Amino acid sequence: MNVVMLGLPGAGKGTQSKRIELQFGLRHLSTGDLLRSEKQRGTPLGRAIAERIDSGNYVTDELVISLVAQALKVSAAKGYVFDGVPRTISQDRMLSDLLAQFNMQIDLAIELRVSREVARKRLSDRASIEGRTDDTAETIRHRLEVYEAETAPLIDHYRTQGILRTVDGRKTPDEVLELVREAVGEITGESSRG
Ligand code: AP5
Ligand code: MG
Repeated sequence: MNVVMLGLPGAGKGTQSKRIELQFGLRHLSTGDLLRSEKQRGTPLGRAIAERIDSGNYVTDELVISLVAQALKVSAAKGYVFDGVPRTISQDRMLSDLLAQFNMQIDLAIELRVSREVARKRLSDRASIEGRTDDTAETIRHRLEVYEAETAPLIDHYRTQGILRTVDGRKTPDEVLELVREAVGEITGESSRG
């Protein structure tokens, strides 16, 4: 099974993906993490990535999908929880084509819904703890706008396909996980409890 996590920056995609990984044995694949580790290397590619991330803009669809393709080749998991990808309609198509090569598909998209105010507050609180270079007030504002313009259309896209589940992301992490488990259980046909 492959799950896509959607939601504003700060909605809790990373937090819940780690929990889904533990609960369901799916591999957590975060494109933000992949890009940040490339950035850490300080290569010319890393510097180009840093420029995009630190301004709150997306990197190209081709770059992000090539990183995902590399990760899929080496990991060979039974399924994934995709955190931060797809982020555009075009990435959805590219990821679906890639998964098809492994006889897989996107089975479920979970939208963690929070308001912009909640998202902004969480990210500015996180800034002092994690020191992510894109958690400045100005970049947070831009990231929220980019999400609405580039990524929000995926919600209707997955709704049309009948694979979207929307979860209230404002609740506590444990409560959100319970809702996520229910959504996954509906797809797998297994009980989400216990
Ligand atoms: P990425 O790393 O994916 O960042 P993001 O989407 O902006 O989201 P965040 O990681 O900031 O938030 P999250 O939803 O994971 O929330 P979290 O669990 O941390 O991408 C970064 C950048 O990389 C992009 O801007 C772009 O430049 C580039 N990029 C990545 N993928 C790309 C792609 N596919 N295409 C193009 N470019 C791409 O939670 C946030 C905080 O809230 C934490 O402190 C957490 O502890 C707290 N929290 C979480 N849940 C709760 C809760 N339920 N209650 C209270 N607090 C909570
Ligand atoms: Mg994250």
